[in-house]
Amino acid sequence: MYCQRLTLKDFRNYRRLDLSLSRGLTVFQGENASGKTTLLEALYLLATTKSPRAGSDQELVNFGAEAEFGAPAFARLTGEVDRQDGEIEAEILILRDQPPGADASTGGTARKRIKVNGTARRSIDLIGKINVVLFSPEDLDLVIGSPSLRRRYLDSTLSQIDHRYLRHWQDYAKVVAQRNGFLRNVRERQNRGRSPGRDEMSIWNEELVKNGAYLIKRRLEALQSLNGLAAATHAKLTGLDSSLMPEAANSFQLVYLPSFDLQGVSDEAAIAARFEARLTEVRAQELQRGVSLAGPHRDDFAFMVEEANIATYGSRGQQRTAVLSLKLAEVGWMQAQTGDRPILLLDDILSELDVHRRQYVLDTVTARADQILITATDLAFFGDQDALREMAALYLVEGGAVKRV
Ligand SMILES: Nc1ncnc2c1ncn2[C@@H]1O[C@H](COP(=O)(O)OP(=O)(O)O)[C@@H](O)[C@H]1O
Ligand SMILES: [Mg+2]
Repeated sequence: MYCQRLTLKDFRNYRRLDLSLSRGLTVFQGENASGKTTLLEALYLLATTKSPRAGSDQELVNFGAEAEFGAPAFARLTGEVDRQDGEIEAEILILRDQPPGADASTGGTARKRIKVNGTARRSIDLIGKINVVLFSPEDLDLVIGSPSLRRRYLDSTLSQIDHRYLRHWQDYAKVVAQRNGFLRNVRERQNRGRSPGRDEMSIWNEELVKNGAYLIKRRLEALQSLNGLAAATHAKLTGLDSSLMPEAANSFQLVYLPSFDLQGVSDEAAIAARFEARLTEVRAQELQRGVSLAGPHRDDFAFMVEEANIATYGSRGQQRTAVLSLKLAEVGWMQAQTGDRPILLLDDILSELDVHRRQYVLDTVTARADQILITATDLAFFGDQDALREMAALYLVEGGAVKRV
């Protein structure tokens, strides 16, 4: 698939933008803070309804946008995407509700309105219609950051290709919150000498397992597939880098670290049975602490090379190679899952790679995606400038404006 047209109104530093795009490589060059990442963010948002950057939705609306005729200030993004099974137009409206007197950049909240092909829809109806893989320098945090980042990665990746995953994930999060409330409640009752309500506990457990087992099953499958694809890429990339140990070339592994033992099981019913058994084991502890201790909200996965977790034992170079391998694997995995090729968004990552890996990445992505949008501060990273002009559409980004060069 590829995005033919992107329009923005009052989205971050863009007041108005109407951009036609084509297949293949597109490079957005510009200085820092000119609006390059914002372009990729817009596409990511149209695909997932969420921004990849931390922060609140109201920040997405241009600070200068004003409420008019009683209607709140808003940002609007539209994307026309040509997919294998037909064209689609996605639209997201972000409305900034600002309390009187609040500063535009801080006060208030934001709401989203979504349309697909001109008809109002829920977020869940848009998610997955457009598929993107985003790769930015912050993705190094996937290796070295906290488990919650890796869970978020799995959730947003799987939600893009599996609606059932998205529904169960939304329900699961609610069940965990409510179950925690219930556990605290029981703890208080126990403190006052009352016995815990067994029936209610089993209802909460049932809900937790029903939603959670599917999440675990899909995470397990996804990591297994990604692992196979990433290992091959990792071997290639390691071979290109003489600073890395050659013996590390064939030993890359993504290892799922579920919150309880899954050894030998892979189907949903068996996972559910293990999950239930685990809940019985941790029951006393859960009641004591007032939190849910088992389930996908406690999952993690690790990047292993030579059977060592590279979050602690790896060099920066190894960590970068690992993330790059995962991201490139994701592109092939998404195509295998959906039957269509995702749009690739590479945010400022080429500057971190040496010339051989840069070339390998460019070759790989052009072979695996119909459209690749790349941002860079400097075109020198692409090597031969004439060759670049031959193979890519070049744009200059400056102060929230985009110009073809
Ligand atoms: N809501 C907003 N209104 C106006 N400007 C914003 C808003 N949010 C972010 N910006 C500004 O937009 C600019 C572009 O940011 P970004 O796309 O990250 O730039 P780049 O990737 O080119 O470095 C930054 O200067 C940032 O301060
Ligand atoms: Mg940027």
